[in-house]
Amino acid sequence: MSKRLVYLDNAATTPVREEVLEAMLPYLGKDAFGNPSSAHRFGRAARAGIEEAKRSIAEALGGATEPSQVIFTSGGTEADNLAVIGCALAARDHGGPFRAAVSAIEHKAVLAAAHALTRLGGEEIVLPVNASGTVEEDALAEALTRGAAVVSVMWVNNEVGVIQPVARLAARCRAAGVPFHTDAVQAFGKIPVSLRDVDCTFLTISGHKIGAPKGIGALVVRDRHAVEAIIHGGGQQFGIRPGTENVPGIVGLGRAVELAAAEQAEFAQRVAALRDELERRLLATVPDAVINAWQALRAPHVTNVAIPGTDSEALRARRAARAQSSLRTCSPPWACRASWAWRRCGSRSARTT
Ligand SMILES: Cc1ncc(COP(=O)(O)O)c(C=O)c1O
Repeated sequence: MSKRLVYLDNAATTPVREEVLEAMLPYLGKDAFGNPSSAHRFGRAARAGIEEAKRSIAEALGGATEPSQVIFTSGGTEADNLAVIGCALAARDHGGPFRAAVSAIEHKAVLAAAHALTRLGGEEIVLPVNASGTVEEDALAEALTRGAAVVSVMWVNNEVGVIQPVARLAARCRAAGVPFHTDAVQAFGKIPVSLRDVDCTFLTISGHKIGAPKGIGALVVRDRHAVEAIIHGGGQQFGIRPGTENVPGIVGLGRAVELAAAEQAEFAQRVAALRDELERRLLATVPDAVINAWQALRAPHVTNVAIPGTDSEALRARRAARAQSSLRTCSPPWACRASWAWRRCGSRSARTT
């Protein structure tokens, strides 16, 4: 009997949804293949697709942002780099600090972007997290006093699923006059994400986490003066992110965002129940398994489990019929660096999403 392959790696990527593919196809074919900067009818058709996607994304984010504030990028990584490096460059140009403060648990796209500033003559501040995995607010206060061009704290962590108090952090940054960026790649579609509740300057989303293709994402830029381009070319997208737009990808992202927003509440309920059941059965079978951050506020779609004395790579190899993410020694890698009090430091853990 053939085995059914189970895919448990949706935080890494998702397949393109049928509805998304259907929305994209006209923009790959003869009718709307034009360059959106061209004034003729082919260009106008492509431009119309982009404008509709911007409207869908602005609306899905709570309607508190203008469609013109949605800047398309090649994905979450580029959007994060644009927010962190672009904002630091803009601050430097205006005589401000050339320094970014980022949480210790950020995705590499943010951590490495902040680190890149040090090679450009700037500085990075890495904000530690506490035992429940949330950012130490005293450290944030210190960074704000010292002066930062931008603060970046992710909405939901991709390895463990911990939800950060981004509304409060954004408000603190706003009060200090410092732009706040949040990477919402793992939050959007999984928990309620509204810019009505979170007064951030920048927000990142990525298409391939929500059923759009890889290679498309967006940075919401609510203050154009707070960012400078990090790649240079024509004047597309207000010069913030020049280059001929990836029209089919943008249209796909717009459709995927619409669907994810409409389905979020039902998704969260269904997936949280599945996660709870999985964790319950796992603990019943393997009593010394550790569900990392089980006591913290977590997004429903990630569970991070450590089984003391078990090598997750070996476990994964034995369970070839499951596609699941395994993490290296002392994983998540930032956990030890950030001094989390989780028992799985020094052991291996596996992420199921
Ligand atoms: C939290 C987070 N930010 C950023 C990224 C990078 O996004 P992309 O793969 O679209 O570059 C990911 C992808 O894993 C992610 O999980």
